[in-house]
Parts: sequence; C-alpha cells; structure tokens
Amino acid sequence: MLTLAIIKPDAVHAGKTGKILAHLEGAGFQIRAARLVKLTTAQAEAFYAVHRDRPFYRSLVAFMTSGPALALALERDDAVTRLREVIGATDPAEAKPGTVRKLYAESKERNAIHASDSPENAAREVVFFFPERELRDLG
Ligand code: CMP
Repeated sequence: MLTLAIIKPDAVHAGKTGKILAHLEGAGFQIRAARLVKLTTAQAEAFYAVHRDRPFYRSLVAFMTSGPALALALERDDAVTRLREVIGATDPAEAKPGTVRKLYAESKERNAIHASDSPENAAREVVFFFPERELRDLG
C-alpha cells in the first residue's frame, strides 16, 4: 500500500531531509517515488483545498510555496496509519517523543512533514505528484 509524504520547505531548508528519509526507511517504508518540487501557489491551493476556509490557509499556502519540498510515495503494509504514527501530531508540542515532528518540526504550521490522512486521500495525493504510469514502471 502506498501513501504520500511531503518533507516540507522548513525541513528541506534546514538540511533535515536526509535524517527524515533515514527515519522513514528505518520505520520500514520503501521509497517508491521521490520528487523535489517548488510548488506554485495554484498547486498548493489545490493540494490543501480541503483547508480553504480555515484561518491558516493563506499562510499555509505561502509557507508551502516558500522553497523546495520533497514529495515521496512510500510503501509499507498499512502505510497510511503507520506513517501518521511515525510523524506524530500536527503540533510538535503535542507529538510523542521520537516522532518526526517532535524531532524536526518548528511549529504547528512549519511542521516538517505532511502525510496523507486516509487511504482515499493517499490515492488522490500520490497521483497529484506522481503519474500512475511512473509508479507502475517502478514495479
Ligand atoms: P499537514 O499535515 O500538511 O496538513 C495541513 C497543514 O496545515 C498542517 O500539516 C500544518 O502545516 C497546517 N496547520 C494545521 N493546523 C494549523 C494551525 N492551527 N495553524 C497553522 N497551521 C496549521
């Protein structure tokens, strides 16, 4: 099963990409596709459209377009649930010790990593960054 992760611009800028990738691989995830992206405003708005009525939406879009981010298609059994456990709560102050956000996130918004929150969203979000053909070609 695949899920989508994004190592966000705060973590890429701070040079934490390698440590986070090692953390994810150490937790049993296989990297099936990876792409360094600089999201456009339209792309970030579309990706986070579900949050468009939230007060943090414009700030979130500005943050997510502020620099490169690393999109990842990750595979593991029960990938969606397992990845959300590994990354921890949205707010690093509330994340459990040893989670990616507890270790590497700056704040609730600049929280180092995104992960799909349901199998349905994982399917949508993987295709957002990675055409299905590319994933098939990877085997
Ligand atoms: P993510 O898992 O990518 O999903 C939505 C993102 O919105 C979230 O991580 C945070 O980056 C951001 N976010 C969620 N809640 C808040 C909040 N209360 N204030 C600021 N940013 C938030």
